[in-house]
Amino acid sequence: MVLDVLTYPDKKLKMKSKEVESFDEKLHSLLDDMNDTMVDKNGIGLAAVQIGVLKRLFIINIPDEKGDQYPENLIEVINPRIIESRGETTYEEGCLSLPQYYEDVKRADEIVVEYMDRDGNLHKTELHGLGAIAFQHELDHLNGKLFFERISYLKRKKFEKDWKKRK
Ligand code: CO
Repeated sequence: MVLDVLTYPDKKLKMKSKEVESFDEKLHSLLDDMNDTMVDKNGIGLAAVQIGVLKRLFIINIPDEKGDQYPENLIEVINPRIIESRGETTYEEGCLSLPQYYEDVKRADEIVVEYMDRDGNLHKTELHGLGAIAFQHELDHLNGKLFFERISYLKRKKFEKDWKKRK
């Protein structure tokens, strides 16, 4: 089922999400709905808080070089942690909660992460490139942070001005 995505300045987007404790049917249908929603909106990542659910989980599906997304590349990430981060990279990010806004954001280039899947199994893996960027972007959502909070003060002021004009 495709759900509505909350957009800035919805207050929920600033809230911290809580750890997932039950890996049940309810969680599975939430994850399925999130995937339907992400695919419908052409996103490469979506955090639960973006559909109004304050749980520490998100999904990511990184497209290939041609920009095509495949269902088998979907990663469901529950209770994530970044254990190690290395290097620095800059990428022009976008977010379904900030439609039509894109800006360069600096993040770690390589990260080692731990998370659980929908059945509660623990995974440890290393990510780099767009996968690492998306993971950090989505993890920020779980801590109530949007990507414009990681850009320079001046760019942020400009963003706020432009955003108000759009309303
Ligand atoms: Co986002």
